[in-house]
Amino acid sequence: MAGMYQVAIVAHSWVRWLVLIAGLVALARAISGMQGRRPWTSADDRGTFLFAIGLDVQTLLGLLIYASLATSTRRVIEHVAGMAVALMLAHVGRVRIRRSPAGDGRHRLATIFIGLSLLVILFSIPWAAPLFRA
Ligand code: HEM
Repeated sequence: MAGMYQVAIVAHSWVRWLVLIAGLVALARAISGMQGRRPWTSADDRGTFLFAIGLDVQTLLGLLIYASLATSTRRVIEHVAGMAVALMLAHVGRVRIRRSPAGDGRHRLATIFIGLSLLVILFSIPWAAPLFRA
């Protein structure tokens, strides 16, 4: 269905920015929390949650797009594989944070996992595609 593909690709293009912004906000909170030895708060948790849920939405949209493609090129496979790693890092990070003692050590875990996830995302985004799709 061409209509569904169009909607999914436009949404996937825009949600990218929400994911990047949510990730940068969560990472900034984590780094400043680590440096200031600030206790981990529910606002910090919300930050990593928004980043992870954004990635989940991108995955769903991405799989819809993938299912409507006739062929998968090497570029597409690398994109999907990279994003699967980023998704895993974000979710494993949240689990590790939840299981670690409540304290400023959680900011260190968030810095590592969100930071690595964001890095993989930045390298896996096809920047040749339109930045703002209409
Ligand atoms: C496992 C998760 C994901 C899957 C399965 C997926 C799948 C896809 C597929 C199949 C395409 C079309 C490729 C093409 O036609 O060349 C695509 C394009 C794209 N993806 Fe993903 N993706 C995922 C995650 C993400 C994430 C996390 C982001 C950014 C935060 C992202 C950003 C983009 C962008 C910007 C495009 C280009 C869209 C356009 O043509 O305007 N993707 N994705």
